[in-house]
Amino acid sequence: MCVQLICGDQKVGPEEYAVPELIEPGMLEGVASTTIAKLRRAGYITLEVVAATPARELADRTGMGEDTAEKVNRLARMRVDPGFIPALEVLERRMSMIRCTTGSSSLDGILGGGVETGAITELIGEYGSGKTQICFTLSVTAQLPEEGGGLGGRVCVIDTEGTFHPERIIQIAEGKDLDPRRALEGILVARCYNSDHLSILIDSLPMLCEEEGISLVIVDSMIGHFRGEYIGRENLSKRQQKLGSCLHRLIRLAEISNVAVVVTNQVLATPSVVYGDPNRPTGGHVMAHACTHRVYLRKGKKNTRLARVIDSPCLPEVKIRFAITGGGVEDAEE
Ligand SMILES: Nc1ncnc2c1ncn2[C@@H]1O[C@H](COP(=O)(O)OP(=O)(O)OP(=O)(O)O)[C@@H](O)[C@H]1O
Ligand SMILES: [Mg+2]
Repeated sequence: MCVQLICGDQKVGPEEYAVPELIEPGMLEGVASTTIAKLRRAGYITLEVVAATPARELADRTGMGEDTAEKVNRLARMRVDPGFIPALEVLERRMSMIRCTTGSSSLDGILGGGVETGAITELIGEYGSGKTQICFTLSVTAQLPEEGGGLGGRVCVIDTEGTFHPERIIQIAEGKDLDPRRALEGILVARCYNSDHLSILIDSLPMLCEEEGISLVIVDSMIGHFRGEYIGRENLSKRQQKLGSCLHRLIRLAEISNVAVVVTNQVLATPSVVYGDPNRPTGGHVMAHACTHRVYLRKGKKNTRLARVIDSPCLPEVKIRFAITGGGVEDAEE
């Protein structure tokens, strides 16, 4: 029983899901092709993304004048923004979202059936709590076809900590009776060295997702470089601003390209907490607001981990146990 992985151009999704329209010269009346080129270079490659991006951000990130940015933004919005739509249509759009299995049915259960497309799922926990192991497992399972619990596409990993180990992908794929070589071929990895580099890599994602059929984007970790580079209270607001900008671009990517985005976050011990768990997620309100579903992970007995959804617009706060084995994330034994 060997389930086939889907690589590259075979990305599948519900037919009714509207494919974002690539921005081309001549599409927006009175907008020069050099302006379109600037947009594309900065990662604003579809009409939907241009329409959803504040004009000020377009100006800052592409180098075009503010008036041009406002015009471009307004014209793109006129082309794609339907304004108010019936809630039934919102429901239909939500039904076009696909869910990816984490490898554990319990963990999938608290996520409403798995990691969903069109949203950012944040994995929070201290060292060794299983964040990277979940990312490894998702990197394999996301390549399965939808009927096999996957997203039917390739995976892009932004590795900020140098913890991406292909050997682990091989182990996990073999544990699932999948072809390890194909699993590796379906993952694109970028080692990210600092927060500016992370920002550049995020800019390149819309084009990458389009060209490479990416269904899952992983940033492991989202916060590491920001914490290392912006030290002290005086730098906090600058740090949060840059972090927020990266997260906003990721949520736009998730929604417009209908990909799943998974980011990892660390914890910070609060000395004032005497009883109970002193750990709190880092990244403050910016992280909390930007991420759609937040999953808090803790170490359990032996190879088990505890997972709890701590903030989600639609998922209840339920705690479950799962296991990390040679084959990746699995259900814990009773
Ligand atoms: N091949 C394996 N077989 C079984 N368990 C493993 C294997 N590899 C790693 N683990 C387990 O996963 C743990 C590491 O988890 P993981 O790398 O996901 O931590 P993390 O939450 O990403 O931590 P950090 O914040 O340091 O990045 C190890 O301590 C071990 O318990
Ligand atoms: Mg890790």
